[in-house]
Amino acid sequence: MSNLRIAPLEERHITRVVEIEKASQSCPWSEQSFRNELSQDHGIFIIGEVGTDLIGFAGEWIMIDEAHIITVAVSESYRRQGYAKKLITELLLRAASKGATCATLEVRAGNDAAIKLYEMMGFASTGKRKNYYPDNKEDAVIMWLYNLQTWECP
Ligand SMILES: CC(C)(COP(=O)(O)OP(=O)(O)OC[C@H]1O[C@@H](n2cnc3c(N)ncnc32)[C@H](O)[C@@H]1OP(=O)(O)O)[C@@H](O)C(=O)NCCC(=O)NCCS
Repeated sequence: MSNLRIAPLEERHITRVVEIEKASQSCPWSEQSFRNELSQDHGIFIIGEVGTDLIGFAGEWIMIDEAHIITVAVSESYRRQGYAKKLITELLLRAASKGATCATLEVRAGNDAAIKLYEMMGFASTGKRKNYYPDNKEDAVIMWLYNLQTWECP
């Protein structure tokens, strides 16, 4: 995992990011949605590379003192090697350094892998949004991490 290089999302990454997104999500973001992130002044969007392979990405929006994790995905052949943990850690530390005191996200209720990842990073479920996802009416679990200024990677 020490071979992971994290860098800001750039235009040249978009094609590969969209490929990973399509392979990872039932309702993938469009290419334009990722391109919009390039010009967000309240957003932080990062990619992870191992050697010359772009293996995953993650993004957040910072709204006053809250970090909203908006997406994370890791290419299937690179999963369970700690890369998402590393990408989310980077987002949380960058948000904290910009003054955010807490972080939140929404995740599909059936996405056990993501829920376990967020729980191990210190997020806790605080509620649900019923029938939130338009494709299958799945509920969203709302998760928060409140102690961001003193948070340390587990
Ligand atoms: C969720 C996702 C990003 C995890 O990426 P990853 O790089 O495999 O995650 P990590 O290796 O950093 O896992 C860290 C911890 O999360 C938990 N975890 C991750 N994947 C898991 C799985 N499939 N089953 C159970 N726990 C899992 C474990 O606690 C893991 O630690 P461990 O391997 O020491 O047990 C990846 O499965 C993915 O891209 N899924 C599709 C996109 C997605 O669902 N994104 C989240 C949207 S909210």
